[in-house]
Amino acid sequence: MGHLLGGFTLFNLLVWQWLKTSRLQPSMSVSVARPLFLLSLFVIVILTGQIALGGWVSSNYAALACVDFPKCQQSWWPPMDFKNAFIMWRGLGVDYEFGVLDHPARVAIHYVHRVGALVTAIAILFYASRLCKFSDARQLLKKNAFIITLLLFVQIGLGISNIVFKLPLPVAVMHNAVALLLLASLVTSAYMLKYARSN
Ligand code: HEM
Repeated sequence: MGHLLGGFTLFNLLVWQWLKTSRLQPSMSVSVARPLFLLSLFVIVILTGQIALGGWVSSNYAALACVDFPKCQQSWWPPMDFKNAFIMWRGLGVDYEFGVLDHPARVAIHYVHRVGALVTAIAILFYASRLCKFSDARQLLKKNAFIITLLLFVQIGLGISNIVFKLPLPVAVMHNAVALLLLASLVTSAYMLKYARSN
């Protein structure tokens, strides 16, 4: 999970560097751009949490702990062990191949990633709607809001496909890649809001 977050951070730092050489500076009054920028940071934190949870699902072999959707094991609240699901450090010398957790702990991880997707979707849709409301029709930010919304729905579709089709490798890889693109799109919007030219 740490490796995943490190890679995503590095990629997005490179995106930020690239944006500095671009001319993506929409015109917008500071009084509008500033609160939107703060909102973008909040949504980036939520998405990063969801990405970390996704990494936790895959590194704990919890992808198929629930094999049905939207319920998990035909239940809205299956037996889950939250106490053991999120232990971050178990000392040295543990063999993590195929995971060390019992089934209820894996279900808890999987379930939290699903609930996290719901929270993330609400936050992103709210943010995208604000971007649309406060930028005019041809503006870069409006296009960005459209891309963010599209990527969100693709990402949720890929997540559900992971479960329904029993984790085909191309779908799992795409789910990873689209998470990266989603984060990069949010970072791009944050950049544009931070450096918007006041009109
Ligand atoms: C905004 C929404 C979502 C984001 C950003 C997200 C992100 C991620 C990420 C980054 C991973 C780790 C991939 C890896 O390490 O290879 C992951 C794994 C996973 N996600 Fe999501 N996810 C989202 C929604 C969903 C939804 C809605 C579902 C299913 C209902 C889902 C099911 C899964 C599963 C089963 C895995 C494990 C895949 C594996 O083991 O390779 N995700 N997710």
